[in-house]
Amino acid sequence: MANSEGKVRVGFIGCGGISHAHLEHLAVAEDVELAGFCDIIVERAEKHVEKYGGKAYDAAEKMFDDLKLDAAYIMIPTYAHGAPERTCIKAGVPFLVEKPMGLYPDDLRKLSKEVQESGLITSAGFMNRYRKSVNRARELFQSDTPILMDGAWIGGPPLRKEGDYFASAPIGQWWPIKAKSGGQFVEQVIHTVDLVRYLGGDVVEVSAFAARGFNQKQERLIQNYDIDDAMVVSMKLPDGGVANVMSCCAAMTGGGVFLNVWASRHSAKFTDWAHHVQIHRADEHGVEDIKGDIEPIFPTEDKAFIHAVKTGDPRGIRCSYPEGVKSTLIALAANESLETGKPVKVQYE
Ligand SMILES: NC(=O)c1ccc[n+]([C@@H]2O[C@H](COP(=O)([O-])OP(=O)(O)OC[C@H]3O[C@@H](n4cnc5c(N)ncnc54)[C@H](O)[C@@H]3O)[C@@H](O)[C@H]2O)c1
Repeated sequence: MANSEGKVRVGFIGCGGISHAHLEHLAVAEDVELAGFCDIIVERAEKHVEKYGGKAYDAAEKMFDDLKLDAAYIMIPTYAHGAPERTCIKAGVPFLVEKPMGLYPDDLRKLSKEVQESGLITSAGFMNRYRKSVNRARELFQSDTPILMDGAWIGGPPLRKEGDYFASAPIGQWWPIKAKSGGQFVEQVIHTVDLVRYLGGDVVEVSAFAARGFNQKQERLIQNYDIDDAMVVSMKLPDGGVANVMSCCAAMTGGGVFLNVWASRHSAKFTDWAHHVQIHRADEHGVEDIKGDIEPIFPTEDKAFIHAVKTGDPRGIRCSYPEGVKSTLIALAANESLETGKPVKVQYE
């Protein structure tokens, strides 16, 4: 749907850090009108209104009652999911929601069904699925089943010091608290978990171990930090392969983002946040090298969503809400494995 001028009227739920990555280009898109912004800290919504226009609200329901929206962007902390998605369903408004999809497996399974029954167009913010590098690898691994994957996000501790992202951005108030974010594995490494699913299928079972107590020795550790310093999560893939995905937020030398995938005839090595890839083939010398950032990734993800809303055709969307829920359920199963000390079968329905 779009208005009489062909513009999709968009409302934002949550006006924190990530909203800028979407707004920078939505603000200049010819087929988008930024109609409303809401945030429980209304000053944040008002700041966006100053910059982008539209109206400010302190609750999503008020925005939906007041405006006729064609689409919503849900950009909120992990613990806050559920009510905003249901507000969209009630109003019949398609939504794009940032990852991860939430913290509570039972409610996520329920909400996924509600979304499917609603028939709404949805998009989950797993933007790596739009990268040419990722899709070239996916094409190859569809006929050459991944046998082994090995991926990680490795960075330093969130510290109270100038220039530290978590010390200065609002995300620092909830990210280091496991009950609010789910921890680094759920909140951040979920991107790699999603790629394991995108390339290797629905993970069947997970088994997790964690390291704790190292960051607590850091004098300037951010307040309320209680997440795991590191996790290793072993996964069984549906076609018999295996994967190991790791998180670490305690390595001051860094380590970066990577994912290696080995199949019988191909291997792919993804590196950096941009997911550049080097693909090797067993039958050929030389390497296929594809940069992950050939095109800016948030605009690509957003264009697919806006196009789907305008045309009613969701085929350009690479990760719907129910798909995003499946990846989130894997990461939450890893937390369950930590708590129980046992392998956990991932329950998708
Ligand atoms: N795709 C990516 O690479 C990427 C990068 C960064 C963040 N994210 C995700 O985006 C989400 C938000 O992250 P952020 O950095 O913007 O966090 P943030 O803390 O900066 O912003 C979240 C905002 O949501 C508001 N909020 C909380 N509950 C709300 C509710 N019920 N209704 C309206 N507003 C509400 C908060 O007041 C805050 O302003 C997280 O899930 C994060 O994982 C994704």
